[in-house]
Amino acid sequence: MNDASLYSLLATRERPSDRSPNDEEIIAGLCAAQAEISPKYFYDLQGSALFERITGLPEYYPTRTEMAIMSEYAGDIAGSIGDGATLIEFGAGNCEKARALCALIEPKCFVAVDIASDFVRDAANGLRCTYPALDIHVVSADLEDEIELPADVPRGQRLGFYPGSSIGNFEPEQALRLLRRIRGLLGEGGALLIGVDLVKDEAVLEAAYNDAAGVTAAFNLNVLRHLNRLIGSDFDLRDWRHRAFFNRAKSRIEMHLDAAVDARVGWLGGKRFFRRGEDIHTENSYKYALGDFARMLELAGFAQQFCWTDPKQWFAVFLARV
Ligand SMILES: C[S@@+](CC[C@H](N)C(=O)[O-])C[C@H]1O[C@@H](n2cnc3c(N)ncnc32)[C@H](O)[C@@H]1O
Repeated sequence: MNDASLYSLLATRERPSDRSPNDEEIIAGLCAAQAEISPKYFYDLQGSALFERITGLPEYYPTRTEMAIMSEYAGDIAGSIGDGATLIEFGAGNCEKARALCALIEPKCFVAVDIASDFVRDAANGLRCTYPALDIHVVSADLEDEIELPADVPRGQRLGFYPGSSIGNFEPEQALRLLRRIRGLLGEGGALLIGVDLVKDEAVLEAAYNDAAGVTAAFNLNVLRHLNRLIGSDFDLRDWRHRAFFNRAKSRIEMHLDAAVDARVGWLGGKRFFRRGEDIHTENSYKYALGDFARMLELAGFAQQFCWTDPKQWFAVFLARV
């Protein structure tokens, strides 16, 4: 993809976000010796739409593999969960996976928890048209904090749903803490259905984050545009290049933005000079071995696990009971 078409993917304007950003967290990340931006800032409206495009790319196997597992084992999944649950999806995005799950388990109530609540609200409205009797709530929350659900969300038979291997965006210790918080939210009698990306051939992993159409590059660069709006920074997207690779020692894909020129970046109340070649670390996506993730679920207080995978064992869907 040439630069002109890459920037055309980023050209649409959107109204300012109405959520209050954690400016100090963002600025501390930009000023750190190894500069970093949390991947949660990818998801403004445009970032959410770009991620939706990524899920349909030929190189991006996780979405279609997870959907194929859920379709192949639909009967087992439905049988293990039963009807009438309260479905709570964490990082619900476009709610497409919840839509498929709703057809299987006919929940009474659906709660979409996401930091990008404007995008999710639109998706949830779409779901309302398909399931008019479903009681739907959208909760704007950061999964790094305590999650509070509306008081009228039923307490019994809660099914947590955390697809897309988004758990892999957290450091393993953070992931364990999040799973424990989720367990607390689900309560006695609850269960968690969670999708996890598995360790595999490096070429397959790296292709998934370096697609030929350049959509992942646009998604990565868009975080700078989002920051410009959140903290009033003046990142010039043309100065930065997308880079993604598999760090085998840490079992994770890393995404970075490399400065292609010496770049001075300012924001309200501060600035930083990035030398050409210096980078900002924007995402980790941990890839797990089946046994390691099963142990993490156990440590988080989940028991009686089922695990379904695809024939190549690229992805796994776990069902674990509180
Ligand atoms: C990789 S997308 C997955 C979307 C969808 N669940 C799927 O599997 O296709 C991650 C989703 O989690 C949300 N998200 C990312 N970080 C978050 C955080 N810290 N707190 C709440 N939501 C977050 C994003 O807004 C986005 O909708």
